Amino acid sequence: MEQRYHAFTNGEITEYVSWKDTEGNEINASDGGMIYVDGVYHWYGQKLRALPFAPKGKGGQVTTEGVVMYRSEDLYNWTYEGVILPCSKDPNSPLYGPMRFERPKIIYNERTKKYVLWCHYVAYPGDHGDEPGTGEAGIASCDTVNGTYEWHGTTRPIDDLGSVKDSTLYKDRDGKAYFIYDRKVGDDRCTHIVELSEDYLSCTDHYRRVQEAYWREAATPMYHDGWYFIFTSGLTSWKANPAKYYRAKSLMGPWTEMGDPYEGDVTGTSFESQSTYVFPVEGKPGLFIHMAERHNTENFERCSYIWTPVEFPTKDSVVLRYRKTWQWETFGEQHV
Ligand code: DGJ
Repeated sequence: MEQRYHAFTNGEITEYVSWKDTEGNEINASDGGMIYVDGVYHWYGQKLRALPFAPKGKGGQVTTEGVVMYRSEDLYNWTYEGVILPCSKDPNSPLYGPMRFERPKIIYNERTKKYVLWCHYVAYPGDHGDEPGTGEAGIASCDTVNGTYEWHGTTRPIDDLGSVKDSTLYKDRDGKAYFIYDRKVGDDRCTHIVELSEDYLSCTDHYRRVQEAYWREAATPMYHDGWYFIFTSGLTSWKANPAKYYRAKSLMGPWTEMGDPYEGDVTGTSFESQSTYVFPVEGKPGLFIHMAERHNTENFERCSYIWTPVEFPTKDSVVLRYRKTWQWETFGEQHV
């Protein structure tokens, strides 16, 4: 059964709109990202656990299946490509579920010709913590974007003291790549940006503690016209909170706090969502889509996806305006 869609549908801010794939199944690709390869967008994320295994409001924020991927040529119609980083059925495996591949992100390494995935890894049974195995950076890679990724294990950037919380990857225009994460040492939680090795499979010792982004998570970076921007959320677990963004001329700073990017967000909830990724739309210079997720704590399998265009009131600032529905082709000609 092929479904056809022609717009992004975020819905009312109290709604969990179903985004369906071309087979009519719910898209379940939590806190993921997007990679464009040879004319095709690939949207991937962690497949959150389905009911009835996840009792109401509890235990759904883990996976027993892994990271999944969908493909589309128009950004509206998504065909399921399958599990690209599977959980294991072997209780002795580090990938035995329920566990977490939270916030997986994929970038391509031109030198090694590999697609490299990093995530916030939490071992079975998937409970966040500071002990080894409960807050790590997980690494995998693959020769093709949508193949089965090989697991390379975990690491803690900088040193073993700091556990890894919400994380992302950023590939810069010069080919250097960075692991960006909320580093937690006791009560000290701060955004850190760590340069990766040339093969993107490990961290170097070149990093920046972004003190301005203290007690922030869900870091979501982008670059446009001379400026780096990072969207972040506060720390209220799965409950939505006001976003803040930061800007800098260089990834290594200095960073400046710029306030809440969500225009008109009177409820202080980032329109009931949390940032996950920003990507440029091919063939539309200057158009970036901000991917966010409306976490559904009653049923994590039914989270919703909130995509909005990033708008630039000035060269050095950004705004996110909520749209119940919109189309990328005509963005700029449309009214809110
Ligand atoms: C843990 C955070 O507390 C949540 O807000 C959310 O970002 C999840 N991680 C999902 O990545």
